[in-house]
Amino acid sequence: MNGKELLLTRRSIRSFTDEVVSREVLKEIVEIAKYAPSWKNFQVARYTFVDDPTILNRIATEGVNDFIYNTNTITKTKGICVLSYVKGKSGKMDDDTFGSSKENSWEVFDAGIASLQFCLAAHSKGVGTTIMGVIADEVISEIVNLPDNETVAALIVYGYPAGEPRKTSRLEVDELARFL
Ligand SMILES: Cc1cc2nc3c(=O)[nH]c(=O)nc-3n(C[C@H](O)[C@H](O)[C@H](O)COP(=O)(O)O)c2cc1C
Repeated sequence: MNGKELLLTRRSIRSFTDEVVSREVLKEIVEIAKYAPSWKNFQVARYTFVDDPTILNRIATEGVNDFIYNTNTITKTKGICVLSYVKGKSGKMDDDTFGSSKENSWEVFDAGIASLQFCLAAHSKGVGTTIMGVIADEVISEIVNLPDNETVAALIVYGYPAGEPRKTSRLEVDELARFL
């Protein structure tokens, strides 16, 4: 698959086969994901993989703010990546002041870039993903025992896709792009 095909064929996947994604493959995915750009190359994103059915069940029931759609998706997965980031770094200059009016929002931005790079890396290996933002991040932090200096940005459910993904539409280029 070339780069364009990779970008155009990634879809959010919410149905998975029973095949488990091995820890070896997950490490290969992180090996690619880690090349995501980040503020001052701080590389604040962290990937906590959960494949223990008891912990998955707790996240499905306690970690999605009662959003049943996400509960149902998690119930169909064999694994979740808790995408977290190290707090208090991105957005800062060498003298510890913020580099822009967005202040520390750049840490969420970094986590977003890392998430997409993770999803594309997974897709390149035939692994489907969905990023989830409707989550109870503090509850999840507690469930997975996240270090105090990190916070949860998103969940990424993953697995080998079952069936064809849902088609999603996109706006026209003329609605998205402006030229001055
Ligand atoms: C920041 C963010 C949060 C999202 N949260 C959820 C979610 O909580 N549950 C879900 O099923 N999909 C979630 N999605 C997936 C989007 O619904 C999906 O990317 C969008 O509909 C486009 O579909 P596609 O990824 O198949 O192209 C989220 C995506 C992003 C980027």
